[in-house]
Amino acid sequence: MASISLVSAALRRLEGKVALITGGASGIGEATARLFSKHGAQVVIADIQDDLGHSVCKDLESASFVHCNVTKEDEVETAVNMAVSKHGKLDIMFNNAGISGNNNTSILNNTKSEFEQVFSVNVSGAFLGTKHAARVMIPARRGSIINTASTSGVIGGGAPHPYTSSKHAVVGLMRNTAVELEAYGVRVNCVSPYFVPTPMVKNFFKLGEEDEVPKFYSNLKGADLVPEDVAEAVLYLGSDESKYVSGHNLVVDGGFTVLNNGFCVFGQSV
Ligand SMILES: NC(=O)c1ccc[n+]([C@@H]2O[C@H](COP(=O)([O-])OP(=O)(O)OC[C@H]3O[C@@H](n4cnc5c(N)ncnc54)[C@H](O)[C@@H]3O)[C@@H](O)[C@H]2O)c1
Repeated sequence: MASISLVSAALRRLEGKVALITGGASGIGEATARLFSKHGAQVVIADIQDDLGHSVCKDLESASFVHCNVTKEDEVETAVNMAVSKHGKLDIMFNNAGISGNNNTSILNNTKSEFEQVFSVNVSGAFLGTKHAARVMIPARRGSIINTASTSGVIGGGAPHPYTSSKHAVVGLMRNTAVELEAYGVRVNCVSPYFVPTPMVKNFFKLGEEDEVPKFYSNLKGADLVPEDVAEAVLYLGSDESKYVSGHNLVVDGGFTVLNNGFCVFGQSV
């Protein structure tokens, strides 16, 4: 019996850790909240979808919800303070809330207000989350901040201009803050997924509830990317197993961004 509980303790890779997850009510954030909770973390979900956020929390071992619009500094500040006052500390900040913006691919059709709206959530949201997590992690001399970027933060052509620009900015923010915060033992990294079937992608393609999200194949055969795969990468970055990893953009794309179809010696197999 004792050996079984030792094994299950070892399998709980976030035992005793406190994690705040923005955009945790849906998609990648929800999958991460579920996985973090399974691994023993106390999870705080921060989102603008209150009903969904509360219902995810009900399923989890130890989780709470805080309404938080990541574009508003006072709400991000309150969410971080709530996590600390409830649990005494903040170990992991997952800046994951994001929007795709409209399905306008030509710059001639992009409006300044749309561009700024995407930046406000994707970039300012990650900036505010990083700032307020750093505020409590610096005195503690530890912490892991993870931002959701995208393969669109690595290459061009995968999404409209506002989204691609915003995700490049998220990677830049991560690199700069990693350099500053390493002096305090605080790690900052990104996770960058390829297409994952989530409500954001459904909205982008204007699909209905019942419609299947189209499959976007990478060059890796035999596997489809799902939110849980991204959550596993975030689990690694949040856990002590990545204790020497900082300033890293962990791309989860089945090799999509390393393949240049115009110059490939391997040809098209299968
Ligand atoms: N799905 C993909 O293909 C994909 C690929 C790469 C990166 N991403 C990124 O992953 C992250 C999560 O997206 P997802 O695909 O899980 O989509 P999703 O729509 O399922 O989840 C996004 C969550 O963010 C929340 N949110 C939106 N605006 C917010 C705001 N202002 N304040 C607080 N919460 C807000 C939403 O309510 C939602 O719960 C985003 O940053 C997205 O850009 C997604």
